[in-house]
Amino acid sequence: MLFAGVLVVIVIASVLFHLVSPWWTTPLASNWKSMDDMLTITLVITGIFFVVINAFVAYTLWRYRHRDGLAPGQGHSAAYVPENKKLERWLIGITTVGIMALLAPGLVVYASYVNAPRDALMLEVLGQQWQWHYRLTGVSGKLGATDARFVNAANPFGLDPGDPAGQDNILVAGNEVHLPLNKPVKVLLRSHDVLHDFYVPPFRARMNIVPGQVSTFWFTPTKAGRYEALCAQLCGIGHANMRGFVVVEDEVAFQTWLKTQPTFVMTMARPAPGAGAGALASGADARVAQGEALTQSKGCVACHTVDGSPRVGPSWKGLAGKTQTLADGSTVLADEAYLRRAIREPQAQVVKGFPPIMPAAAISDEELAALVAYLQSLGGSAPALPEPKPEPKPEQKAQR
Ligand code: CUA
Repeated sequence: MLFAGVLVVIVIASVLFHLVSPWWTTPLASNWKSMDDMLTITLVITGIFFVVINAFVAYTLWRYRHRDGLAPGQGHSAAYVPENKKLERWLIGITTVGIMALLAPGLVVYASYVNAPRDALMLEVLGQQWQWHYRLTGVSGKLGATDARFVNAANPFGLDPGDPAGQDNILVAGNEVHLPLNKPVKVLLRSHDVLHDFYVPPFRARMNIVPGQVSTFWFTPTKAGRYEALCAQLCGIGHANMRGFVVVEDEVAFQTWLKTQPTFVMTMARPAPGAGAGALASGADARVAQGEALTQSKGCVACHTVDGSPRVGPSWKGLAGKTQTLADGSTVLADEAYLRRAIREPQAQVVKGFPPIMPAAAISDEELAALVAYLQSLGGSAPALPEPKPEPKPEQKAQR
């Protein structure tokens, strides 16, 4: 009897929770209202089954409860019924209809979700531990071919330098991409390492990114704003901090932003891809700023803090100039040589108390110098860098 009462309370509380809970989906900002409808259909169908099954169990607990004082044979005794064809037909019929109603509408929506309109803007999203990169088509309207063998520090997308279609491709600096309002966007997803999942909740759009293949979906942003993009597959220790942004704005603002982004040819001509501040690094301050921007765009901040609190890796506050204790018990002074090595060969000198999991980042020598300058600016020692050489290509505008 107690259990029957508990079940009834659970059912009523669950239904009330869904009716009054503030945790519904964020306001929709794309064309995929049908995704919300699918969720509602699933919730209603599974909700009905949940209520009916629990109410039935509560009823039988009450109806066939144990009663004291009855002689054997006087109360209820269980009857052995091995087969009941009529009941089985009903159960099979109802579950079949229920499961079809759960699956069929979703398949229809999925079919249109992966079939982008022909005039859709092409956006490539590249996932890697633990950062996002974006590529857009240039004037030619085509995305150039890519191959893993072309991937290096200067060419993180692995674009084929010999493919004319890739020369004008726009390689977005940083983890924020802009998109025009009310224009369909076809998203092509690639991964450099492990399974990721690109997810922007207000768009109701997400897709797994599987290494070795290109997955795709499309959507039309219908509301201007700045939306957070997150990784929705556990992809390692920095997963929770693998975040990016999508800014939806009108066509004019989008075109203005697009002009500030470098093309593939431009990134190959200058040695600091991915760092918007790179080309302006002409003094110690600029170099530190470039290093700071790199810690964002290269995903370093997923594991390191600047406020002294340890995360997955040691904090950078006060690191430079300090004596570090390594995993093998030895100590080392965190000078410039140590910092360079810690970035280039993360497994060589692992700090005591931290797991040896840092990936070696694909960065150029100039980027390494900027990162070290930034780390030194957070440490106790003064930056001891030689005067940087003058930049050969100063016309590229800074993005951050
Ligand atoms: Cu990438 Cu989780």
